[in-house]
Amino acid sequence: MRASAIAHPNIALIKYWGKRDTVENLPAVGSLSVTIGALSTETTVEFDAALKQDVLVLNGDEQPLEQGRLTACMNAFRALAGSNEYATVTSGNDFPTGAGLASSASGYAALVTAAAAALGIDPREPGLIDVARIGSGSAPRSLFGGIALLSIDEQGTKCRQLTAPAEWPLSVVVAVTTENKKDITSRDGMEQSRLTSPFYESWIRGHADDLDAAVRLVAVRDFFALAELSEHNCLKMHSVMMTTRPALLYWSPVTLACMQKITSLRKDGVPVFFTIDAGPQVKAICLPDALATVTSVLHDVPGVLRIIAGELGEGASVIGA
Ligand code: PMV
Repeated sequence: MRASAIAHPNIALIKYWGKRDTVENLPAVGSLSVTIGALSTETTVEFDAALKQDVLVLNGDEQPLEQGRLTACMNAFRALAGSNEYATVTSGNDFPTGAGLASSASGYAALVTAAAAALGIDPREPGLIDVARIGSGSAPRSLFGGIALLSIDEQGTKCRQLTAPAEWPLSVVVAVTTENKKDITSRDGMEQSRLTSPFYESWIRGHADDLDAAVRLVAVRDFFALAELSEHNCLKMHSVMMTTRPALLYWSPVTLACMQKITSLRKDGVPVFFTIDAGPQVKAICLPDALATVTSVLHDVPGVLRIIAGELGEGASVIGA
């Protein structure tokens, strides 16, 4: 009744921002991501008939459960598993939590994987993708390594691997610009965008074209075309964020300085592009040969606190009881 799992966060190249259904936590659009091998979450789940509710211990501290996210995810899991036992979930990240580094994606992917192992459920059970999604809309992607595609249809969420890490080796360089938590969660921010940004509708309308194009570019391994498309998609999402009321301006001057360095490297022929989520951290995706150059250039940007760099990671997996 106890198991542990490891999962890596992922970063979307084609993003989602906005929900089709806030109760089911169903993203409005699909997304495509890379799994970041250099960052990890380890989670242990222990079911216990004596517990009266779930308990979450995150990075050593017990968390209040009033937001209901963990409970909603565990309830969906219990419904799938046909179980009624509560669990203690103990989770730790080797990177800043809640700071725009996708800790909720790796957190819920590790949780679902450990919970399934604890109850002897096949990790390929398709229902686990929906359970992970209840926790975080980007979590199903962290169940898969390499490049993952999440699609939404009438039946719910589907997610699959497009390429394994070895099938298209890419590197990810994270420029950490703050260790602080963000003020507004993605979940609250994207709902506010849906309600108030004049660009939200057009963001949703153009999205399927971006996603289809990205899938084709991954299939033919066209790095530079994917670079241009990914930056464009990222900037479209941020233009929705910035035009939300009140505005969601996630960038700092350091974020912008990193973006400019990355685009000027690419102009000089270096295979690299940026992407940024709901926070000021910058993630540079590059071909492995460019890793040293990109790392050193971003390291030298004033205000960058540290660099975390590595290859694409594997999907979530069980690491023992
Ligand atoms: O569902 P969440 O809270 O993990 O939101 C993810 C939102 C973005 O990271 C900004 C975009 C994405 O597709 O990962």
